[in-house]
Amino acid sequence: MTEQTPILRLEGIVKTFPGVRALDGVSFDVRPGEVHALMGENGAGKSTLMKVLGGIHAPNEGQIFIAEEPTIMTSPIQAKAKGVVFIHQELSLAGELSVAENIFLGELPRKSFGRVDWAKLYTDTDKILKTLNVSFNARTRVGDLSIANQQMVEIGRALTVDPRAVIFDEPTASLTDAEKVVLFDVIADLQARGVGIIYISHRMEEIFKITDRISVLRDGQYRGTLNTAETNEDAVTQLMIGRSLDLSRNESSHDMGDVALEVRGLSCGSLFNDVSFAVRKGEVLGFYGLVGAGRTEIAETIFGLRTPSAGQILLNGQEVRITSPIDAIRLGISLVPEDRKDQGLVLGMNCRDNMTLPQIGDLTTGPFVSNGAEVAIFDQYRDKLDIRTPGWRQTVGNLSGGNQQKIVIGKWLSMRPEVLIVDEPTRGIDVGSKSEIHNLIRELAAQGYAVIVISSEMPEVLHVSDRIVAMFSGAVMRTFTAEEVTEDNLVQAISGITPQKVA
Ligand SMILES: Nc1ncnc2c1ncn2[C@@H]1O[C@H](COP(=O)(O)OP(=O)(O)OP(=O)(O)O)[C@@H](O)[C@H]1O
Ligand SMILES: [Mg+2]
Repeated sequence: MTEQTPILRLEGIVKTFPGVRALDGVSFDVRPGEVHALMGENGAGKSTLMKVLGGIHAPNEGQIFIAEEPTIMTSPIQAKAKGVVFIHQELSLAGELSVAENIFLGELPRKSFGRVDWAKLYTDTDKILKTLNVSFNARTRVGDLSIANQQMVEIGRALTVDPRAVIFDEPTASLTDAEKVVLFDVIADLQARGVGIIYISHRMEEIFKITDRISVLRDGQYRGTLNTAETNEDAVTQLMIGRSLDLSRNESSHDMGDVALEVRGLSCGSLFNDVSFAVRKGEVLGFYGLVGAGRTEIAETIFGLRTPSAGQILLNGQEVRITSPIDAIRLGISLVPEDRKDQGLVLGMNCRDNMTLPQIGDLTTGPFVSNGAEVAIFDQYRDKLDIRTPGWRQTVGNLSGGNQQKIVIGKWLSMRPEVLIVDEPTRGIDVGSKSEIHNLIRELAAQGYAVIVISSEMPEVLHVSDRIVAMFSGAVMRTFTAEEVTEDNLVQAISGITPQKVA
């Protein structure tokens, strides 16, 4: 790529929070029409840097230039007026309002006497939705949309102005493959119009597919910028975490015990049908399939969040009735949910309490929940999961996105369940911590836990599982042992093509 005047430039940005030097003299720029990736471990400072650029945080030191003009960003509205729009890691939509109201929030079209011009609002919104190729319309209530569709609304919000630069902070964390294609098209369009794109993601394959340059932060410091075409995953990882990763499967073979959890002919309406499988103590059973194949719904049914329409659940050979998560927890089943932000955390509470408080209010044994033991549990999982926080007193809402996720994972692990179900365990987690979480899953199995891992990432499922259940459209297509599984037969199975059917 030829040298061009950057559309945006940050120079020597310092940002501190109590006890944290989140950014320590970071410089960064984006050129017109380029996709510039910002990478780094959880807590490295990526979102903070973008919040400085987006007018959310004032920097302690440093300067922002737009087309080489020194600029002070005082608020997100002002940043947007200057053409800098931000698609956040944490969705910030109003669930009770319509898609149109969310997209034009704070800038609703008005008629005389300040009345909202609803007709214009809906047509303008539908125009934007059309470019995003979505199935909902301007009047849909945002609260009724899936997380992925809410993400699309958030993206729609960025398109109400003619942007100079668009910041995507982990936009694909909850998108399906089809939605990703749409997103990448949207990005390519913006690029073609000369917009500069800043793209934050932990997913290497995306980074190498759509970006031109990669800049890396580590512990709040700038580590360098690489041209994507001239580098590779290993070099980027090195820069991010200071070492390479061994991604081969650890062949820690250990003895397996009896069947811990068995499911027979389990169905739940149209979500999944006649599902049977068993997981033994000491085993990691992977569930792989496309988003919507029914994997999460099976987990939710076992955990008592859904009522099955048919079938049985057996624990240690005994049929059990699970009508609520309280039943499941009492029986020794934990579920680390897919949507951890909503289901797993109290953002205003400190790290220790989030990790050690019982998940269900009914299980609380009284007001005396805080003592040294809880701090010890927190410390143990902070070390195990490498959670970056100045201490247990920090409010969880102030942690970086990935570190918040680690708190939820720690919380469920600290309950020492017999059967642990983890849904997308490493979504939003940086590559280094990802391999730590994989090791932890293998370690838990070695200690005799029965672990179910639901994942949409093939390398992850192949890496951690002893056996893999391939699902398609609510049904189990095939169960593979680690020896017989290959990338090819796994892809075939989750597309609904079984080798038998092909033959
Ligand atoms: N409002 C805040 N108050 C206190 N500390 C904060 C606040 N916002 C961020 N931090 C801290 O600043 C550091 C950088 O956080 P940031 O959210 O920028 O990380 P990140 O690189 O985006 O990580 P992730 O990949 O997990 O999203 C972290 O240590 C975080 O805890
Ligand atoms: Mg972040």
